[in-house]
Amino acid sequence: MSIDLGRPGDFHVHLRDGAMAELVTPQVHSGGASVCYVMPNLVPPLDNVPAVLDYHKKLQAIDNRPKYLMSLYLSPNITPETIREAKSKNIYGVKCYPAGVTTNSAHGVGSYEPFFPVFAEMEKCDLVLNLHGECPSTGNINVMNAEPEFLPTLKMLHQRFPKLRIILEHCTTRAAVEAVKECGDTVAATITCHHLFLTVDSWGGNAFNFCKPVAKFPDDRQALIDAATSGSPKFFFGSDSAPHPLEAKTKGKNASAGVFTQNASIAYIAEAFHQSGNMENLKKFVTDNGKKFYKIDDSELGKETVRLVKRPNKIPEVIEHEGVVVVPFMAGETLEYSVEWV
Ligand code: NCD
Ligand code: ZN
Repeated sequence: MSIDLGRPGDFHVHLRDGAMAELVTPQVHSGGASVCYVMPNLVPPLDNVPAVLDYHKKLQAIDNRPKYLMSLYLSPNITPETIREAKSKNIYGVKCYPAGVTTNSAHGVGSYEPFFPVFAEMEKCDLVLNLHGECPSTGNINVMNAEPEFLPTLKMLHQRFPKLRIILEHCTTRAAVEAVKECGDTVAATITCHHLFLTVDSWGGNAFNFCKPVAKFPDDRQALIDAATSGSPKFFFGSDSAPHPLEAKTKGKNASAGVFTQNASIAYIAEAFHQSGNMENLKKFVTDNGKKFYKIDDSELGKETVRLVKRPNKIPEVIEHEGVVVVPFMAGETLEYSVEWV
């Protein structure tokens, strides 16, 4: 059995820098993606065009096989002028992190109004707004309801900027799936590999399954599986692969948030689709829908294509490079599917 997946895309990756970048960047290709959307939450954040272009060069020097779609980090340094400059340099979008909700989000957004002129310019220049859709924990807001609490903000931004392409990143709840469906065609959502497998029970007590947004209830997971396998152009693959060194997961008071899936990204998705009993729309989810939303022409993506084959795929216990050790998702387990580049 084999399925031709064309040239898949992973529309939400964290490739980091230094030795970690050298370790994880080549895994975009080995995981089966020919194009990826690169998140800007480095330290310091990539909130100016020269920094993004410099990072792009570094990634290409590590591995020039994938196409890297680059993004800016929304901070007070971003102005309408920055957006015009970004457009002229083929930067694809701007990532908005509410301050304090996740890894390296300290410089993120407190209130949205001050950025309306930036969003208006993005709408004009056709840049994508990537939303980390969680409200910071305060009062009764906590990791379990942070995403539903954010959904009125998504709707408000869509209403004010109806032509602005918005992606609700790594959605995790039935409420989010419904909200995205209710919005117009300019609003879509990414779904990760791990949220198709995990629920709240999986990360309570297991730091390697802990990420933001956290996995929610079984009914939420079912809504994500249904959305991903539906073939709807509003939902596509973004792994949110977010590597952290082993010690950041196991030492200290709090585990860093992030699950690493880059090494077998497409195979995890295939596994989840297989378990759901519905492989039919796999190519739409991992290949077609995201490229269409980002307006990526397949001819920009080289000659090779990905073939999914039914062959045991053992996930290593760890991957490492120059003293950096990362534990992948489902470490030590064997998936039923593998990818081949042909
Ligand atoms: C991401 C990271 O580590 O950079 N962590 C995560 O839990 N997903 C940041 C993010 O996308 O929220
Ligand atoms: Zn992320």
